[in-house]
Parts: sequence; structure tokens; C-alpha cells
Amino acid sequence: MIPQPKVEEIINASRIEEVVGDYVNLKKRGANLLGLCPFHNEKTPSFTVSPAKGIYKCFGCGKAGDSVRFIMEHDSLSYPDALKYLANKYNIEVEEIKLTDEALQSQNERESVLIALKFASDYFTQQLWEDEEGQTIGLSYFEERGFRHEIIRKFGLGYSKEGWNHFYDHAIASGYKEEFLKRAGLITVTEQGKIFDLFRGRVMFPVHDLSGRVVAFGGRIMKKDPKAPKYVNSPETEVYHKSDILYGYYFAKQEIRKHDRCYLVEGYTDVITLHQGGIENVVASSGTSLTEGQIKLIKRFTENVTILYDGDQAGLKASLRGVDMILEQGLNVKVVTFPEGEDPDSYCKSQGGEAFAKYIRTNEKDFIIFKSNLLLAEAANDPVKRAEVIRNIVESISKIPDSIKRSVFVKECSKLLDISEQVLINELNKIFRNRKKEDKELIKPTHEESLNYEELLEQNKVEFADENINQEANVIEVLIKFGNVRIEEKTLAEIIISAILDDQINFRNPVYNKVFVEFCHLIDNTPSEKWTEHFINYKDENIAQKMTAFLIDDDKYLLTKRYSQAESRIHISEMLLQRNMKEHVEAIIFHFKRKRIDELLTEFKNEVKNAYEKGEDYTALMPTGKYLLDLRKEIFGDRGTVIVK
Ligand code: UTP
Ligand code: MN
Repeated sequence: MIPQPKVEEIINASRIEEVVGDYVNLKKRGANLLGLCPFHNEKTPSFTVSPAKGIYKCFGCGKAGDSVRFIMEHDSLSYPDALKYLANKYNIEVEEIKLTDEALQSQNERESVLIALKFASDYFTQQLWEDEEGQTIGLSYFEERGFRHEIIRKFGLGYSKEGWNHFYDHAIASGYKEEFLKRAGLITVTEQGKIFDLFRGRVMFPVHDLSGRVVAFGGRIMKKDPKAPKYVNSPETEVYHKSDILYGYYFAKQEIRKHDRCYLVEGYTDVITLHQGGIENVVASSGTSLTEGQIKLIKRFTENVTILYDGDQAGLKASLRGVDMILEQGLNVKVVTFPEGEDPDSYCKSQGGEAFAKYIRTNEKDFIIFKSNLLLAEAANDPVKRAEVIRNIVESISKIPDSIKRSVFVKECSKLLDISEQVLINELNKIFRNRKKEDKELIKPTHEESLNYEELLEQNKVEFADENINQEANVIEVLIKFGNVRIEEKTLAEIIISAILDDQINFRNPVYNKVFVEFCHLIDNTPSEKWTEHFINYKDENIAQKMTAFLIDDDKYLLTKRYSQAESRIHISEMLLQRNMKEHVEAIIFHFKRKRIDELLTEFKNEVKNAYEKGEDYTALMPTGKYLLDLRKEIFGDRGTVIVK
């Protein structure tokens, strides 16, 4: 561990422009520096570095952070390793806090296991290239599969000879301890104390960790033996946690980042064949469906995953379930299937890399659409099954964390399933509500905590004033979501609209402005229960999408979203919030006006200044300025609250 004062010293010494400058060609642009983003493919530079703030930000892909973050992301290093890199760059000596003897020992033992694995890997490759059996059986097998020599070397493929103890004997003779061979999963010791190699008569696929160290093996059988398994894989060991490793990740990570997409296949041979075909952003989950750890790994480099399924229909349906978890992690999932009887390996080989890549691009389907089609075809005209399909798909949609993306799928699935969007939204909200109910049962507020509520409200008032909160979005979200809620015989929409109209304030955001104007007509001409529908089906796609996203109720409702911080401390019951609905809306309108009037005042001042500089007459502008200043005084008042009419 690096002691905290040292950490600070390193961070203070690191100049972001120098750290990034080692990797990116930066050009001065005003106070900032500009270059091509190293995290995604781009032709025009959108990667900016601010020496003053010590940070970088890419306006293309959104990656941002400080020097440490940059090194972590760029070199895939852990936090301490990134610090060490920087310390080295700036000649800062780092004396790490000494590990305890116990920790030191376990680290040394882990190291010993890794060394044994490296030894094994070298042995297997040597056998493949130099041993006669290795050449005639192993190497010629790979050649027949179409693997070129350079790809065999790149992936470190090897051969383990037929027989019980070739590897074991060689390792012991070379001074390796039996204990570490066993802990590395390379040998098996029976109850009777008999020892034999785990891999016998197999071609070997080493599995690498993130930094390229061999942590495990897969071995494919060579002789025809119906009783023996086709593949033998290393067991879980202290250095090999299957659920946190993806086969091929070490070779793929840079390409995944570059293409901003990760292809996911089933096994070793798929990965290798695709690589050979020039498609290198590919990894395999090795048999089982993806685990959370594996998804996190992918997410470090991209949010876009394309799953390449082989042509087996039964397997396809079974694997659909696992995909919801990928959605839940916020990844965008696409799916490609191959003709019956083909897998990515065989198809890439028969078509060639370029045609294969083109096949993927043209056959890629979004997961939810793909799933809908697949399940719908099965349900045919059976109404019971159809209802189930709808629930199933809505469940998948509910896993997507991003509300705009969700609303896009609601729209598409509504067409596909021939069901109104409102029905799908209702289904979605039902799911969200049920989830919340489950949550609530977990955290019940105590009486005392409820009493603290007033205090929390006070604290959160400040939060409303936060400049980062999009005040305009707040107002529109309440309008669209709770516009038809009645408070003292008026709808909330009427209350909000008259509060804003009376002051003649508009919205800066044109979409929100349009929605607001539209709402002004709606409240006079359309019954309140039709309001939401009006916006869901709005002719302007962009508006419809944004409003639908507001309507999907993932966060209880907006008014509580602002309280998430407080909520993590105590649970605020919905009833309490409802009682305070009016107060919240007042606060929202107040802060919206406050911000907007200040914006308008700034605009006004600029106009005056421009007119003055051009020598034009600006007296005509003055009434506007006076109006805004008066309004400001009126709204801010002495009490600092807005008056709702
Ligand atoms: P295949 O059965 O296609 O293996 O599985 P293969 O070696 O390509 O065999 P043939 O030549 O087509 O008959 C594809 C991938 O699935 C994994 C392996 O990673 C393999 O690359 N697999 C398959 C296993 O892990 N265990 C198995 O028992 C089978
Ligand atoms: Mn195969």
C-alpha cells in the first residue's frame, strides 16, 4: 500500500498535459490542449486537456478524469499501479507500507502458482513445436484447422503428450514443488496418493489474465475417445476465477476500445479464428453464460456488445435469459445468428474474415427486437402465450438503466407487438412499483426518522438550487408526469402554467418550450386523462421520445429523485412526500424562474452592450430590462419564496 501523503505528492506532481502528452499528440487551443482521443476512433480531435484544472475530457466518447484516471484507463492498470507509474515518471520514491508476513507469504505463494503456470505453458509450446508427437499430432491438427503459425504463437497454443506424468516428471526435475503444481491445477492427486497430469494427449489453449499472464488452460482431446470429454479445463484456483476472466480479453482489449464494440463468442477456437480473420475485438465467455464480473470487464472498454450465436435454436432460447443481466449493466446488446450448423469459427473460416465482418454488420439485430421476434414467432396466435411474451419483453426493457433508451424500445416494441405504448408503459411501471415495494419492505422508516423529515427538506432545498440541476427539465417532468394531479381543485398543470405564463417567461430549451406551449392549449381543450397520451404519440419523434422517458417511472417520481441522497440515509414515505407535493412544486418553479430570469438578464445586458458598441439606440430595450429587474425583485422578494397563484 502507498501511504496517503505519498499519494497526494504523486498527484500534485503529475502534470496532466505531460501525462497525456506521452500518448497523445496535443495542440494548444486557447487555455486548453486538443488531440485525438486515445479511447475511441476519431478523425477530428475532440479530446481536450485542461492543464489548469488537471483534467482531460473527450467530447466524443465522454471519457474524462485526472492523470491517475488516464493512466488507469489507458494502460488498464489498477489504482496503485497507476500511481506507481506516475511516481516513476516524476522520480518520486515510493516506499510501500510493508505487507504483513502473512500477506507477504500469500502473495509469494500466488506468485509461485503463476510461475508454475508459466513454466507449464512454455513446456506445452515447446512440445508442440519441437517434440515429434507434438508436431505430428498437435501442430498438424492446428494446421488442419487452418490456424497459421503466427496465430498459434500469438495465442501460445501448445501440446501435452499422451501419458500420465510427462509434465509432472519434467516439472519436478526442474525443481518445481508438487504443492504448487497442484495448486495451479496442473496435476491431480488421487486419494491413494497417485499423481498424474490433468492434461494428457491434448492440444493446449492457455488462458491469459488482463496483464497477459497465463492463469489456466483448456485442452482439447486428440484421439477418438467417446468416454473422454472433448475439452478439459483448469479448475478454479487462487489465480483463476472463471467468472472474472474472458478468454482472449488480453489480446482484444485495445481493439475493443478502438472499435467501441466487443464481440462475444462461445469458445477458444471462435476467438482464434476470428483474430486470424482480422476481427480482434472478440472474447469468449467459455461455456457458461456471462457473469457480472465478465460484464464489468467488457464495460471497462465499451458499452456495446454483439453476441455471436451459433445456429442452434434450442441453445439460443436458453441463453436469452442471461442477456437481461447484460442489459442491466447498461450495455447495448446486439445479436447475430449464423446459418444452421455453423458457428462463428466455421463460418469465418469458410467465408473469410472480410465477408464475415460484413455478415455481422448486416445481420446484427438489437437484442430486444431479436428476442421479441423469436418469442412472437413461437407464440403465434395463442393469446395466453402472447401475453407472456409481452411481459417477458417488458421485463427485459425494464432492465435498461437509461430512460431514453428504454423509451425508444417502448416505441419499437409497441409497433412490433401491435400494442399501444401506454399499455407497455403501464406494464413497465408495474414492474418498477413491485421492485420498489420489495425495497420498501427492506427499509422501513422508524418513527424518529420520519420526524427528521422536516430537517431533510430544509437540507434539500439547497439541492434544488444546485446549478447542475436542469431546472427546465424539472418543470417539464412534473408537468408531464403529474400535470393531472389535483391540488385544491386545480390541476398541477394549471398551477404551473399560470405561475409561468403570468411572468411571461419562456424556456430556453426549444423542446421544452414547445411542450410548454402545447400544454397551454391542452389544458383548455383536452380532458386531463388524455394529456400524457398526447405527448407519447406526439408527431415530433424527438419530443415524443423525451416525454415518454419522463413517464417511465423508474425513480418513484421526480420529486423524490432529488432526495436520493437523503433517501440512502433514511426512507421517506410516499405519503409524506405527497403531503408536500405543493411545496415541492413551488420550489421547482421558484428555481426555474430564478435561473431563467438571470439568463434573460444576461442576454439583455449583452444586447445593450452590443447596441452601445455599434452606436445604436438602445433605449427601446430598456423596458425589457426594467421588467426583468422588477420581476426578479418580486420573485426573490424578502422571503425568498415564489408565490403560486
Ligand atoms: P466445439 O465443440 O465446436 O469445439 O466447441 P471444436 O474444438 O471446434 O470441435 P469441432 O472440431 O468443431 O468438433 C466450440 C468451443 O466451445 C468450447 C471450446 O472453447 C471450443 O472452442 N467447448 C466445447 C468447451 O469448452 N468444452 C466442450 O466440451 C466443448
Ligand atoms: Mn467447432
